Amino acid sequence: MRNANIEPKRVRAARASRDRREAARFESIVGELSAAMARVPADEVDREIELWLGKICRALDLDRSAVYERDSADQPVRATHTWVRPNFPAFPPNYDPEKLVQKSTQLVMSGKMLVFAHPSEIPADNPDARRMVAKYGPKASAAIPMWAGGRVIGAASFGKFRSTREWSPALLDQLALAVRLFGSAIERKQSETAIRAVRTELRVASRRNVMSELVASLSHEINQPLGAILSNLGGVARLLSQGNPQPAMALEAVNSAIDDTKRTAEIVRRIRAMFKNQVEHKTAIGIRALIGEVAKLTAGEAAVRRISVQIEVTPAGQRVIGDTIQLQQCVLNLVMNAFDAIADANTDQRGVTVKVAPEKTGWVAVSVCDSGAGIDPTVANRLFEPFVTTKSEGMGLGLLVTRSIVESHGGRIWASPNPDHGTTFTFTLPVAARKLAGASRRLG
Ligand SMILES: Nc1ncnc2c1ncn2[C@@H]1O[C@H](COP(=O)(O)OP(=O)(O)OP(=O)(O)O)[C@@H](O)[C@H]1O
Ligand SMILES: [Mg+2]
Repeated sequence: MRNANIEPKRVRAARASRDRREAARFESIVGELSAAMARVPADEVDREIELWLGKICRALDLDRSAVYERDSADQPVRATHTWVRPNFPAFPPNYDPEKLVQKSTQLVMSGKMLVFAHPSEIPADNPDARRMVAKYGPKASAAIPMWAGGRVIGAASFGKFRSTREWSPALLDQLALAVRLFGSAIERKQSETAIRAVRTELRVASRRNVMSELVASLSHEINQPLGAILSNLGGVARLLSQGNPQPAMALEAVNSAIDDTKRTAEIVRRIRAMFKNQVEHKTAIGIRALIGEVAKLTAGEAAVRRISVQIEVTPAGQRVIGDTIQLQQCVLNLVMNAFDAIADANTDQRGVTVKVAPEKTGWVAVSVCDSGAGIDPTVANRLFEPFVTTKSEGMGLGLLVTRSIVESHGGRIWASPNPDHGTTFTFTLPVAARKLAGASRRLG
């Protein structure tokens, strides 16, 4: 800066009043800039900054200006926004401040301003800045760090080529404020862009999951009752074709087919409801009864395979929040897998235990423990992925559907090998809040 002491008093007074007027005029421009930056949508920040570089340069009678950014501390600084007065030399092609004015760049990026009113003011120990000025010709320049939050994320430079110019401290304060406003707008743009990218990714991923899980659960859940209906009606047809209908047996088969048809219709209704964004039918359910229902459904299968199923629920009368049909589906899938594992193991220990035990506060863990062969290492990491199966008749969908249901209830599911042999699959469910003590006693 020029040494004020050697100026005559009158000249100094005149300069001071000129500086004050300029700073005051510029202050109102920065006020407008602040309002504009607050308003501008993230995707128009860049255009707005270039517009304002032009406004600032015209207001201060400057000729060239740029904003520089650096993505992270180890990335190079590069010019991202520029303004050049018409008919003035553009920025040198491939302008790389890091190479051209390395020392100055480091200084500004460390948070210091670099200002000269005249080329002779550039310190002798900054030869690359001297060289750059001699070669490209700015006669006055202010390089200002761009802060965002507590970090310097870049810089801005303002240059005058036609003549030298003074930079009063008040003006530099206002310029620093303008650059800080650029910095916050750029930071907002960056975080909004990042958030948008993550959001899009999540939306695509979750839609893909929901669709594939929906199709999976649809075919899985519907095929089971359809198979049962087919076998019951086949039985009735056989009885009729033998010309010796046994009314009681036929009636039982037909009733069973009616139940399964209702169940299928219910599944379709639920899935349609899901599309309509309706919530599932979650209520407080006695978990013992729910598991008992699954045991009944699988009793025939267990008998054929000579497997005994044991149910242990603590505390007795435990109630969870959930959708009965969906949760039955979960337990059924795990129990069927357990049966298959025991069949594979060809062992004498043929027991499956379904256990309900308290988990962390407000949750229970439902586990299905088998004495089977254990998980095949080739699928161990992909158990819950669609179409992963080691069974000739398997669809590889049971665990995927189960996990999707468990997660839609807020729970988690995992598998762990038993200490002796076999596997335990465990999932968690939220406990239903107890009603009044009297009411819960009445409910038993
Ligand atoms: N209790 C278990 N013990 C050992 N392996 C298991 C057990 N449960 C699942 N697996 C393995 O995980 C694979 C995937 O299980 P999943 O229930 O998703 O499909 P699946 O049983 O093969 O077919 P489905 O769609 O008919 O259920 C099985 O093929 C099996 O290899
Ligand atoms: Mg299965």
